[in-house]
Amino acid sequence: MDGIELLLNRRSSPVLESPGPTPEQLEVMFQAALRAPDHARLRPWRFLTVSGEAREALGELLAKAARFDQQDLSEDALSRFRGMPLRAPTLVLAICPVKEHPKVPEIEQKMSLAAAVQSLLLAAYAQGVGAVWRTGDLCYHPVVAEGLGLAENEALMGFIYLGTPSGSQKKLPVMEVSDFVSEWSGN
Ligand SMILES: Cc1cc2nc3c(=O)[nH]c(=O)nc-3n(C[C@H](O)[C@H](O)[C@H](O)COP(=O)(O)O)c2cc1C
Repeated sequence: MDGIELLLNRRSSPVLESPGPTPEQLEVMFQAALRAPDHARLRPWRFLTVSGEAREALGELLAKAARFDQQDLSEDALSRFRGMPLRAPTLVLAICPVKEHPKVPEIEQKMSLAAAVQSLLLAAYAQGVGAVWRTGDLCYHPVVAEGLGLAENEALMGFIYLGTPSGSQKKLPVMEVSDFVSEWSGN
């Protein structure tokens, strides 16, 4: 696929089914992610892959975090949390290990991680792998961080759901560049 065509057409696939990406496809996606712009080469990226039964363990962790905030959650609500990771055969958890650096503040490291995720999404799309980046309150929940074994300096920045796109592909919105871009003339 031509690079510009890829950039102009990437879209998320909210409904995903099996099979998930092959190890070869994942390798390409991670190699693409590791080419993200990175101030001072801090490599502020870490990824966890979750598939198979481990998705159920992740669902339990999400339910545990939700119950931590609200002890009286209904069984229905809890099973909704448990089911979240089952919405795709493979998940990639995108983590930013923030390092102390005199010239590179935390926000720049998180922007680098976000750029890495976008590259991963593009490499997924280029290979016909469906993907969607999701977060939600539980993404930033300390119980989730602890359950995943994140270090103090690590921030979970997203759940990337991966699989085979299901149903019809959504239409892309038409946007006008002029609604977002203008020239600053200096005064
Ligand atoms: C940081 C971040 C977090 C997101 N979290 C969610 C989410 O929790 N749930 C959701 O439906 N979409 C979420 N989105 C939006 C989708 O990933 C996707 O971009 C959106 O549905 C638009 O689709 P498109 O990528 O095809 O334009 C998030 C996007 C970003 C950048």
